[in-house]
Amino acid sequence: MAERTWWKRGIVYQIYPRSFQDTNGDGVGDLEGIRRRLDHLAWLGVDALWISPIYPSPMADGGYDVADYRDIDPLFGSLADFDRLVGEAHERGLKLILDFVPNHSSSQHAWFRESRSSRTNPKRDWYIWRDPAPGGGPPNNWISNFGGSAWTFDEATGQYYYHAFLKEQPDLNWRNPELREAMFDTLRFWLERGVDGFRVDVIWHLMKDPEMRDNPPNPGYTPGQPAINRLLQIHSADHPDIYGVIAGMRKVLDGYPDRVLIGEIYLPIERLVTYYGPDLTGAHLPFNFQLIHTTWRARDIEALVREYEGKLPEGGWPNWVLSNHDQPRIAARVGQAQARVAAMLLLTLRGTPTLYYGDELGMPAVHIPRDRVQDPWEKNEPGIGIGRDPSRTPMPWDRSPNAGFSSVEPWLPLNQDWHSRNVAAMRDEPASILTLTRNLIALRRERKSLMVGRYAPVLVTDEVFVYLREAGDERVMAALNLTGDPQTVHLPDHLQGGHVLVSTLAQVPANPVGGALTLRGHEGLLIELTRQAA
Ligand code: NOJ
Repeated sequence: MAERTWWKRGIVYQIYPRSFQDTNGDGVGDLEGIRRRLDHLAWLGVDALWISPIYPSPMADGGYDVADYRDIDPLFGSLADFDRLVGEAHERGLKLILDFVPNHSSSQHAWFRESRSSRTNPKRDWYIWRDPAPGGGPPNNWISNFGGSAWTFDEATGQYYYHAFLKEQPDLNWRNPELREAMFDTLRFWLERGVDGFRVDVIWHLMKDPEMRDNPPNPGYTPGQPAINRLLQIHSADHPDIYGVIAGMRKVLDGYPDRVLIGEIYLPIERLVTYYGPDLTGAHLPFNFQLIHTTWRARDIEALVREYEGKLPEGGWPNWVLSNHDQPRIAARVGQAQARVAAMLLLTLRGTPTLYYGDELGMPAVHIPRDRVQDPWEKNEPGIGIGRDPSRTPMPWDRSPNAGFSSVEPWLPLNQDWHSRNVAAMRDEPASILTLTRNLIALRRERKSLMVGRYAPVLVTDEVFVYLREAGDERVMAALNLTGDPQTVHLPDHLQGGHVLVSTLAQVPANPVGGALTLRGHEGLLIELTRQAA
């Protein structure tokens, strides 16, 4: 039964809504735009759409500063547009996952306005207020993730409030039972509207050290890194009390059939896997960002897959992410040729893959001129390479003006090569990364081994990583050359004699595969092995 669960079998596709499709001519994408592109997403073959925040927001942090958890920002449309989108996604068999941002609200949220209005306001404790330190100044040394102190002084009431991100994003106090209930009600509000789950923003941040002790210095910090790296975030996040909170969210979701809880967690593997929770009462899918941070070498990738597979709790379902709206895109990190190998890796590892919009086109990092920077983090700490705009640019659909994204100049520049790198141009091009991605998705959907089968490493060298996926007598082998030079590896006897299903390069090499397997530079092969005799 578990193998039938959609979020185990399926592929999640992340949409950054500002950049998917504009329909009302303001240069920013909207819900109606997503609706009009549903057929494309069904054609691509993904199963679920995760949409970054669409709630009313002053947009200090691209919508991750929510001013009302139960409505839609007019920039994106209305609740009616949302309902229509959910309905039409479901008609196509597509699930819809919302971004839930519970760690902080916008400073414009009615709750925060009330909270800051006086020390005795009933909502005072819904946020994190502290007196100044004994000698004056902020209550502790915690740093904002976007640079500067994480505390802002409120003149009117003489206390500081805590914000892990911008001062326009005050942290909510999850130790307050009323706040918790209000947030759980928010989940119900959207579940009742038919959403299939949530990706929970910075879930490991929700509970902090109740004593709010200083964070220790980070001995590994070097100048030029973002300010947040100066300290080890040991007291400001990843507190053990978090498991009770997540179990509470799960309980709400478990009241509805077949919903998924995904947690955004940037922690090392041994900490990450604890977010499945005691007895799997935690996140169904604690997002696994290991492929984003690894060096792109065969031995490093094999080692992290081994470590992750080895540390997953019994019954915990794996997942893999290559890029997202906060990170450099995969093609920017490893180049166009390896981006194709990466697509094969993502779509053939064991566990739910998350595909970031535009990566199926091999979208590069887009150069953002200074006067067009939108990202508040880049504005706070300019020039050190942390800007997130290069990964958030509009989806190029075709060769019409503004790449078919909008009738006006888009909010961020298009990729320079949009005349050739766009959906319409690449759709019917057999050698494009879009065709490759679609083929890999189709193979994954057709084969139980790839979808839910076992993972077994076969061999690793400095250059090549080979592994198997197996279910019953079905066996598929992925052989990935992580370098630009041809490589030959020797396969054990029982893995010889398969036929190639797909190559990351334009032409599929001749069958059959013998004992010596030669991969061309930047080649990944997916090989179906002969079924084993029973
Ligand atoms: C993580 C989100 O993915 C990122 O875009 C945002 O800036 C922070 N959380 C704060 O909400």
